[in-house]
Amino acid sequence: MKRILATAAIMLGLLMMSTPVMAGSNPCNPCSMQEQVNPCNPCAMKKQMNPCNPCSIKTKPANPCSMQKPANPCNPCSMKQVKGQWGTPGNTPIREHAFDNFRQAAELGKQMWNDENLGTSGMACLSCHSDHDLLNLDRNQNFPHYVKMVGDVVSLDQMINYCMLNPMKGKPFAKDSKELTAMAAYYRAYRMQYIHEQR
Ligand code: HEC
Repeated sequence: MKRILATAAIMLGLLMMSTPVMAGSNPCNPCSMQEQVNPCNPCAMKKQMNPCNPCSIKTKPANPCSMQKPANPCNPCSMKQVKGQWGTPGNTPIREHAFDNFRQAAELGKQMWNDENLGTSGMACLSCHSDHDLLNLDRNQNFPHYVKMVGDVVSLDQMINYCMLNPMKGKPFAKDSKELTAMAAYYRAYRMQYIHEQR
């Protein structure tokens, strides 16, 4: 009996000694002693910087923008209640008049893509880009990407303004203008049409 007890005690001792060593050696072991610094632990210290991590400390938001937010900064519905939040009265709009929806923007864009007086060359965007020509849509690339004619990597807005300046011999659109958004919206609608037709 004594011997059995002694053996059991030795085994228990070995188990207690070996467990933390094994757990400590594997950083992803949830039983690891160093849980607070374990990179695999969702509640690890590092992640407390993220205000959307449910484990983060709500009283110390690391994100300066979250200072203005109500109790739950991750709830999109809570945005309405806060003055100064994006898209709410009291915030600074990017332009005087907003579009109500995408279709409205795309429709204005369509008129503009067809307009021969948009620049001074007498051409419209669709003089060169009708039937989805020269838009490299078959490559299915998102912007920004490299465009050979420009010799640079450009965003869609930059590409529109490049074509305004060069083939169209017109003026580039202002960064936050409705016109530039409308041009980009029609590009998207035109691209969707292309994708739809390819199916
Ligand atoms: C004289 C012909 C011409 C006119 C007019 C023209 N473009 Fe272009 N456009 C081109 C050419 C050529 C390319 C580049 C093709 C290349 O390098 O692969 C291009 C490229 C583009 C691209 C990028 C294609 C890609 O690779 O993703 C967009 C977007 C674009 N044009 C929009 C417009 C818009 C908007 C207008 C009117 C404001 C316009 N273009 C007017 C000839 C024209």
